[in-house]
Amino acid sequence: MSIFTINSFDQYKESYTCSVENPTLFWDQIAQHYTWFKPYTEVSRFSMEDADFSWFNGGETNITFNCLDRHLPELSDKTAIVFEPNDPSEPHQEITYGELAKRVAELANVLLKKGVGKGDRVCIYLPMIPELAISLLACARIGAIHSVVFAGFSAGALASRIDDCSCKMVITSDGGYRGNKTIDLKAIVDEALVQCPTVETVLVVERTKEQINMTEGRDFWLKNELSTVLSECPAESMQSEDPLFILYTSGSTGKPKGMMHSTGGYMVYVGYTFQNVFQYQPSDVFWCTADIGWITGHSYILYGPLLNGATTVLFEGIPSYPDFGRFWSVIEKYKVTQFYTAPTAIRSLAKEPLSWVEKHNLSSLKIIGSVGEPINDEAWQWYFENIGKSTCPIVDTWWQTETGGILISPIPGITKLKPTYATLPLPGIQPILMNAEKELIDKNETDGSLCIKFPWPSIARTIWGDHQRYKDTYFTAFPGYYFTGDGAWRDEDGYYRITGRVDDVIIVSGHNLGTAPIEDAINEHQFVAESAIVGFPHDIKGNALYGFVTLKDGIGDFDENQLKKEINQYVSDQIGPIAKLDKIQFTSGLPKTRSGKIMRRILRKIAEGDFSSFGDISTLLNPEIVDEIKNQAL
Ligand code: WT7
Repeated sequence: MSIFTINSFDQYKESYTCSVENPTLFWDQIAQHYTWFKPYTEVSRFSMEDADFSWFNGGETNITFNCLDRHLPELSDKTAIVFEPNDPSEPHQEITYGELAKRVAELANVLLKKGVGKGDRVCIYLPMIPELAISLLACARIGAIHSVVFAGFSAGALASRIDDCSCKMVITSDGGYRGNKTIDLKAIVDEALVQCPTVETVLVVERTKEQINMTEGRDFWLKNELSTVLSECPAESMQSEDPLFILYTSGSTGKPKGMMHSTGGYMVYVGYTFQNVFQYQPSDVFWCTADIGWITGHSYILYGPLLNGATTVLFEGIPSYPDFGRFWSVIEKYKVTQFYTAPTAIRSLAKEPLSWVEKHNLSSLKIIGSVGEPINDEAWQWYFENIGKSTCPIVDTWWQTETGGILISPIPGITKLKPTYATLPLPGIQPILMNAEKELIDKNETDGSLCIKFPWPSIARTIWGDHQRYKDTYFTAFPGYYFTGDGAWRDEDGYYRITGRVDDVIIVSGHNLGTAPIEDAINEHQFVAESAIVGFPHDIKGNALYGFVTLKDGIGDFDENQLKKEINQYVSDQIGPIAKLDKIQFTSGLPKTRSGKIMRRILRKIAEGDFSSFGDISTLLNPEIVDEIKNQAL
């Protein structure tokens, strides 16, 4: 039997052992699963010190050949993409593998006609519509490097990303829908391009049919261009190490980092992890609710599913529109078998009446997943009981933009679960914990800085244009290892629980306190929806804890002081009196980035009483909350 598919815990262990003892043999076997135009002559070569990685050297392939052409003889009429529009009364679309291949070829021909070729950078700034998926694939088809910018970013953020990698083209749309709002994407592009001299061409997809400006000679309607080209476009033969895409991720300091991923290694790893983490079967319907503008969408809406010939759902909307039952209605509508979302979405929906869930038939679900931040126990239990009906395993998948694919995750139905634990590393991944003295920690039941000891095929190759920064950020804190920036706890079974960014640790009276476990404790309280803890300077303790707490809807009247006492009792009970909060502020929301992360930087400033400047808050989903919190600060 092929080792590509993990079917039992013994097989997982066997694959894991092989991947550590003989990584060359292991990855060679996995890579054989794909089509190579020219075979590779060396599986890998690397230097952790120089942050230099190459995989499947000498090999040539094209990821779109592996996503499309390879499946066409058998799966031409199978649905590749199900498009569920923002407005549920608009007809949905089912795009077959055959149609998708044709549409990708046509767009690829438009790119070529406009002078885009191998190695050129193309910025994609589109809502979650089929043309977004098709644009990534069209770039990959001809070897152009895509740089997707999430269509919620402002003109300034877009311009800096276009400039950083000198894009030649932008693909956008007139506008986009998000719940009951319309976003004028083309106007944002126009504003950004004032500062972007490298852009020669803008292709515009028609979505909202709103009035927009078209700049003569630069802007072209995509539908007009598509009518002028052929429906076939051979896949460019790409070196395994040729760049596939750039995707920006924000660092703790400085401008965003353009993480660059290359062709062969990314393809091999993402296809392999999709198959195993979601235990994919040919009749499955897979739905990941992320946006393709993030790595989760690149790897597990688009490339991972298509590499396996799967049906993947592309959802344009948001969880609260037209009502809080939207996710559950989409699962019912398409009989989704794997559902993959983020803890922030789970918590926000858990806050709403359960009747939104109960209205829908979720019996098609087999596996449910979580990604993006640590999932607290309360959210885990709610998700498991109400969405998974206590039978679907939860895959808590830990990874990063930099890692390309999932690194630590249960294999559902195979790895014994433990709530809030990402559990065990996938084959090929060697996590280690380091202490403050930069020594490797051997024992279990300990926490430390999470590093990875050995490269895997989809590790980012560099930060576009700044290899030194790549080295400095990831390979110097713990020489010889990849430093993730996260802390983790390893339990007696060797299971990993990600405790959060290492920079979120707060030292109170000499005790290291992670914010995540305290927040978990607070969230256990029946009135609490969500919370965030930060440190603020304290004369005696060094730091003290400040909690920002949002409450569930419809609680009615309550005694604030009594509730604060109860919350501290929960913290004290679960972690110890040392973790009690000095200040608790109730707020109607928390400042969040569009990917759902709480922007603690802002909360830290408010807790410190420093209201002078909050830096750039333009990437917040809810910038208005900052004033509310500031005005009511304790
Ligand atoms: C950071 C990476 C890669 C998916 C989307 C986020 C946190 C991610 C988990 C998880 C605990 C998680 C980490 C990581 N994170 N998944 N299952 N449990 N924390 O990608 O924006 O590059 O963020 O997200 O802190 O370092 P990203």
